[in-house]
Amino acid sequence: MSVTTASHPTTSEDTAPGATEHPPVEAGPPIQAERAVVDWVNSVAALTTPDAVVWCDGSVAEYDHLTRLMVESGTLIRLNPEFRPGSFLARSDPSDVARVEARTFICSASKDDAGPTNNWRDPVEMRATLSGLFAGSMRGRTMYVVPFSMGPLGSPFSKLGVQITDSPYVVASTRIMTRMGSAALSLITGDTPWVPAVHSVGAPLVDGAADVPWPCNGTKYISHFPEEREIWSFGSAYGGNALLAKKSFALRIASVMARDEGWLAEHMLILRVTNPGGKVFHVAAAFPSACGKTNLAMLTPSIPGWKVETIGDDIAWLRPGPDGLRAINPEAGFFGVAPGTGAATNQTAVDTLWGNTIFTNVALRDDGDIWWEGLSDAPPSHLLDWEGKDWTATSGTPAAHPNSRFTVAAAQCPSMADEWDDPNGVLIDAIIFGGRRGTNVPLVVEARGWEHGVFIGATVSSERTAAAEGTVGELRRDPFAMMPFCGYNMADHWAHWLSVGEKLGARAPRIFQVNWFRKGEDGAFLWPGFAENSRVLEWILERVNGSVPAANTPLGWKPTSEGLNLEGLGITARQKEQLFEVDPEAWLPELDGIEHFFAGFGDRLPNALANQLAEIRMRLKFSIEN
Ligand code: GTP
Ligand code: SPV
Ligand code: MN
Repeated sequence: MSVTTASHPTTSEDTAPGATEHPPVEAGPPIQAERAVVDWVNSVAALTTPDAVVWCDGSVAEYDHLTRLMVESGTLIRLNPEFRPGSFLARSDPSDVARVEARTFICSASKDDAGPTNNWRDPVEMRATLSGLFAGSMRGRTMYVVPFSMGPLGSPFSKLGVQITDSPYVVASTRIMTRMGSAALSLITGDTPWVPAVHSVGAPLVDGAADVPWPCNGTKYISHFPEEREIWSFGSAYGGNALLAKKSFALRIASVMARDEGWLAEHMLILRVTNPGGKVFHVAAAFPSACGKTNLAMLTPSIPGWKVETIGDDIAWLRPGPDGLRAINPEAGFFGVAPGTGAATNQTAVDTLWGNTIFTNVALRDDGDIWWEGLSDAPPSHLLDWEGKDWTATSGTPAAHPNSRFTVAAAQCPSMADEWDDPNGVLIDAIIFGGRRGTNVPLVVEARGWEHGVFIGATVSSERTAAAEGTVGELRRDPFAMMPFCGYNMADHWAHWLSVGEKLGARAPRIFQVNWFRKGEDGAFLWPGFAENSRVLEWILERVNGSVPAANTPLGWKPTSEGLNLEGLGITARQKEQLFEVDPEAWLPELDGIEHFFAGFGDRLPNALANQLAEIRMRLKFSIEN
C-alpha cells in the first residue's frame, strides 16, 4: 500500500501545537488503578508479550504524542492545518474497511441464548482459539491500557470499561469517541463492575520486521462473552471491529446487561425537538447502519419555527423510570459515514468537521485537505483516492471508500443540545424505526400501540449498505436495526421490549415507522428526505401532542390527506399516493416472509408478535375484500 508521507507538502509539519517532546509513558500502573485491573493487564501482557505497556491518561499531551508517532510511522497523514487544523487522514489496509459480521461471535454457554441471528461459538472452545491467536500477538509493539466511561462520568446510566489494544489509532479514536482516561479509571474501585476488552491487530513485529501503516491480520475474531461481560477482538483495526467501546460494549455486551437490569441498549440516535410553540420533545430513532441516523440527528428543519438539536447519532441507552423512558447517548463522539455528507444533506456535520478530526479512507486533495463523493458537487480535478492512488473524475472508481468515516468529538458539533451529556438523560416522547426500503414500506405510520410498535421494530428490513461486508443493496432483515449488535437471542430482545412497555404503561413513548427510501416507477426516491424529514417529525410530534387526527391503514395510522405538510415540495398526487400505498398483493408475501423469519425463533417468539402478525394479515385480507 503506497503512502504519501515524506513527499507530500502537507506532511512536513508533523508536530501538533502543544505536543510534548517526551512521551507520557507510565512506568507502571497509575496509583489509582484497582488491583483487579492491574492483575488483568498483567495477565494479558503475559499472554501477548508486548515490548512496552502504556497506561493511557486521556490527556491532550498523550493524544498529541500518539498522533505524532503515527505520522512518523505512516499510519496518519497530517492534513493541511490551514484547512483542517489538528486533523489526520488514515488509510486502512484495503482488506480492512468495514465490520465483519461473519467473524463476529457471541459466545454464550448455550447456543439458544445467542439465537439464530448470531454466530455462536462455544465459549470454552473460543477461549482456546483466542489463547492461541493472542499468544505473542503484541510482540514488538506497545500495549496500551485504555480506561473509559460510556455515558457521563459517574452517571447512574453509565458503565465503565478498559480496553487493551496494540493499535495507537484505536487509542486516539477512543479518546474522541468516549470519556477516556484517568477519571474513568478512578471510578473503578472495589466491586465496581467494568468490562474488560482485549484488542490486537494480530501483527506482531518479529526479528526486526518493519511495520506497515495499517497492521491487521487476514484472520479475524470479534468475540463476545456475554455471561462474563468480556470482549476479545483479533485481526482488524477498523471501526466497530476494533473500537470496542462502541458496538461490542455499548450494544452487544450492554444489551445483555440491559436485559438483566431492566433497561435497553439500542442502535438509535437521540434528538431534541422544539416546536414553534416552544414545546420540547425527545425522539429516539433506530435505522440500520448507513441509513441516515447521523443525518437525522443533525437535521436542519426546512419548516419554519422548528428547532432540532442533537443528543446522539448512533447508540442510545434507555431506562424506564418514574417519569417515563429516559435516554442517554453513551458515546462522546461520532464515527460517521463520510460519503454523501455535504452542504445539501448535512451542513451541520460539515461544520463539525472543521478540525480535530481523524478521517479514515477518504480521498486526499492536492492542497492537503480531504474530499469524498457528495462533499461538493464537482470533484477536484485530481485526488489521491482512499488507497493513495492517483484519481481523476474519469477513474471510474469512488475516490473515497463507501464506508469511509470521520471521527470527531460530539462537543464540536454546533447542533449539540446542552442536555446531551445530562447525567439523568432526556425523557423520550417518540420512538421511530426506519429502514432502507425501495418498495412496500410507507413514508410514515404510527403503531397502534406498544405491542404493534415492537412488531414494527422486530420486522425492520433494509437494503444492505457498505457499513458491513456483504452485497450492497440486498434486502435483509434487521430487527430493531440490531441484527449485528444484539448480544443475546433476538426473540428474547423482543420479549424484553414487551416487558419494558408493560412497565412503562401509559408513560410509554409512542412508536412510529418511517421510510425515506421508497422509489417511484422511474427508480427515483419519492421523498426528498434530509431537511424535509422535519415534516415527518412535525406530524409525529403533533400525533404525540394529540393535535392531529390520523387515518387507518392495515399497517397502522397514517396522516390524513391534509395531515402532512407537503407545501412547496412539488410532490404530485400520484407520488403522494405511492408514498403511502399499502399494496396487499405485495404485503401478503412480505408477511409470509415475516412468518418464516419468526418461525426460526421457535418457542422463544413472544405470542404477542405472532398475534400482531395474524392481526395485520387479517386487516390486509379485509382491505382486499373491501
Ligand atoms: P452508522 O453510522 O453506520 O450506524 O449509520 P447512520 O445511520 O448514522 O448513517 P448515515 O446517517 O451516515 O447514513 C448515510 C446514508 O443515508 C447516506 O447514503 C445518505 O445519503 C442516506 N440518507 C440519509 N438521510 C436520507 C434521506 O432522508 N433520504 C435519502 N434518500 N437518503 C438519506
Ligand atoms: C455501524 O456500522 O452501524 C456503525 C459503524 O456505526 S461501526 O462502528 O464500524 O460499526
Ligand atoms: Mn451504527
